[in-house]
Amino acid sequence: MTDKQILLLPGPTPVPPQVALAMARPAINHRGPEFKALWAEVTSGLKDVFQTRAEVVILTASGTGGMEAAVANLISPGEKVLVVTIGAFGERFVQICRAFNVEAEVVAFPYGQAADPEVIAERLAADTGHEIKAILVQHNETSTGVLNDIQAISRARGDHPALLIVDSISGLAAADLPMDAWHIDVVIAGSQKAFMLPPGLTMLAVGERAWQAAEKCSNQRFYLDIKKARNSGLKGQTPFTPAVPLLYGLQESLRLLKAETLAGSYARHALMRDMVRAGVRALGLKLLADEAIASPAVTAVCVPEGMKPADIINPLRERFGVVVAGGQGAVKDQVFRIGHLGYVSFNAILAGLAALEAVLADAGVPVTRGAAVAAASTILSESEAVDK
Ligand SMILES: Cc1ncc(COP(=O)(O)O)c(C=O)c1O
Repeated sequence: MTDKQILLLPGPTPVPPQVALAMARPAINHRGPEFKALWAEVTSGLKDVFQTRAEVVILTASGTGGMEAAVANLISPGEKVLVVTIGAFGERFVQICRAFNVEAEVVAFPYGQAADPEVIAERLAADTGHEIKAILVQHNETSTGVLNDIQAISRARGDHPALLIVDSISGLAAADLPMDAWHIDVVIAGSQKAFMLPPGLTMLAVGERAWQAAEKCSNQRFYLDIKKARNSGLKGQTPFTPAVPLLYGLQESLRLLKAETLAGSYARHALMRDMVRAGVRALGLKLLADEAIASPAVTAVCVPEGMKPADIINPLRERFGVVVAGGQGAVKDQVFRIGHLGYVSFNAILAGLAALEAVLADAGVPVTRGAAVAAASTILSESEAVDK
């Protein structure tokens, strides 16, 4: 019974009932006044979440569409970018660049580590001819559960004019990312993460320098043309038929986030991370990411010696209805991932940890029964006021 499943995925995340109800509203004309009012509210609400005055475009596509839109609209064929990779989604940026004939110089850090801003600073300082047009980087690398220090990466640019393009698809609203204060040129978000919506929307905040780059960019784009999207958006419309139900859902989820406040959302996600990490540690399992760089959205857990991720993921789902994610990229066979993002509840985390403990015990892993829930619930009880 999937309606009884506990989703602990790094997306899609559970959808709050208010959001689900909002999406069930009767259809409206997407060229009419009702849509215009909806559009005005969601674009203004999004600017608050992106912490920007930049123009925001909303595209009907999954997050990868937002990544593709950034490359196709801002970088011309033959131009060079620096792609900073710390996991599978960084590698996706490299693939997208190749598809659009953009030269990707890769600065790769091992899975489980964050990018070192010093290394980026050195590379940019050596680029005296300013051949590097942009830096492409993840805020939250979902494949490893690592949060990059975007403020430090932004500072690492110094006087270099490269655009800073940040994939915060799994980070925005879960971890602070003040776009304007940190001088980020483009931030990409996705609906099925901390926005608590089903998949299907990608949102990009595009700063002034990036719009200038879009004017000059000669790469191919049609459906994902951000200039077309911006121009229609300024008239309260979209160039193509929008996913109206998702926009109704977004209106509701933005209201929820506003009521909670961004600081409240960040604190809630940090608390969920701390609960998961404490619970998993109490079971004697290792975590891929160190404390200082641990993602507030997802935790990658190393599987015990002699086990495969499927040995844990399958019984969790089949016997307990707890759905966690597998590994990706270079750590595919070494980790499983627990998502604690969006509308995931503290109860769900406690239940998920209890189920994990039972699965491990049944597999013969020496665990102390009750230890995971005890560790996580202690963190929860001791936490400062967070909306529980
Ligand atoms: C950091 C990051 N980038 C990009 C994507 C790709 O988004 P989508 O699967 O919605 O295309 C994801 C999805 O998990 C992600 O977490």
